[in-house]
Amino acid sequence: MQPVLFEKIVHNEELVPSIFKLVFKSEYIAQNAKPGQFVNIKCCEGINTILRRPISICDVDRDNNYVTIVYQKRGKGTEYLSRAREGDTLNVIGPLGRSFEMSDRYKNIAVVGGGIGIFPLLFLLKESKTMKKTAFIGFRNKENYVLIDEFERYANDLFISTDDGSFGYKGFITDLFENGIANEKFDIIYTCGPEAMMEKVVKASYQAGIPCQVSLEQRMGCGIGACLACVCRIKIISESEKENSNKSWHYKRVCKDGPVFWGHEWYEWGQA
Ligand SMILES: Cc1cc2nc3c(=O)[nH]c(=O)nc-3n(C[C@H](O)[C@H](O)[C@H](O)COP(=O)(O)OP(=O)(O)OC[C@H]3O[C@@H](n4cnc5c(N)ncnc54)[C@H](O)[C@@H]3O)c2cc1C
Ligand code: FES
Repeated sequence: MQPVLFEKIVHNEELVPSIFKLVFKSEYIAQNAKPGQFVNIKCCEGINTILRRPISICDVDRDNNYVTIVYQKRGKGTEYLSRAREGDTLNVIGPLGRSFEMSDRYKNIAVVGGGIGIFPLLFLLKESKTMKKTAFIGFRNKENYVLIDEFERYANDLFISTDDGSFGYKGFITDLFENGIANEKFDIIYTCGPEAMMEKVVKASYQAGIPCQVSLEQRMGCGIGACLACVCRIKIISESEKENSNKSWHYKRVCKDGPVFWGHEWYEWGQA
């Protein structure tokens, strides 16, 4: 079990309205984190019992033991976090959860992210040593658009969309992805973002015969596999058996068995 850590905040900055980048120093998390994992943060004072809030790891600097998270201010917990200042102590558990599968056999990878789902994908692009990396990232509008320089740095090809056309392609990022997958043979696709987006990505990937991993967001309690608050229904099937609909359902904890699952496990669940 991961220990509760009390770490120093180095930086907490509002990048664009309601989206914050927080950097904290943690040797344990920086040295152990893998792309797709998250940290669970106590977002209240003293004995107040508000549940911890899960936030994906967006970047680590292993030389300086810095960990970066990027979060959207949504409710009570993230509002509390947004008020943290340099030098404050962060009460955090991590790294938690199952990471993305990264392998030398994947030579040409693509990530597809929407909204706050882009943050764990940036860490994956940075850590991946593969030859070709393509990123498809979608935002609601130009006001929400963040970390573009970082995506440009770590992806060989970058495609951007906004729903209103205020930057890049006007429309859904899945339009650009479906066009991309028709023209290029990726070895694996990784996706994180709104469920409707991930469903389209999984479907297009499997139609093209390409494996796909999804990172799920579920409201959490303990974050460490103990309370079952985050359980979801998953179909356990191997890649070669994915057409067989007779496989049984299993209940999996997003915090411990995920948040990363194979697309065909989750898609079957989403379609049930
Ligand atoms: C594995 C994981 C990784 C995550 N990574 C990030 C990240 O990198 N950046 C980021 O901004 N957010 C991330 N989230 C979502 C983040 O945990 C929630 O936004 C946060 O817990 C909201 O807390 P709050 O107290 O501010 O809002 P609350 O008052 O709890 O809720 C405010 C609103 O947010 C919605 N919400 C709350 N929790 C979730 C959730 N888990 N999934 C979907 N909607 C939710 C509620 O429905 C409500 O409408 C992640 C969630 C998970 C499970
Ligand atoms: S949040 Fe408690 S088991 Fe997942």
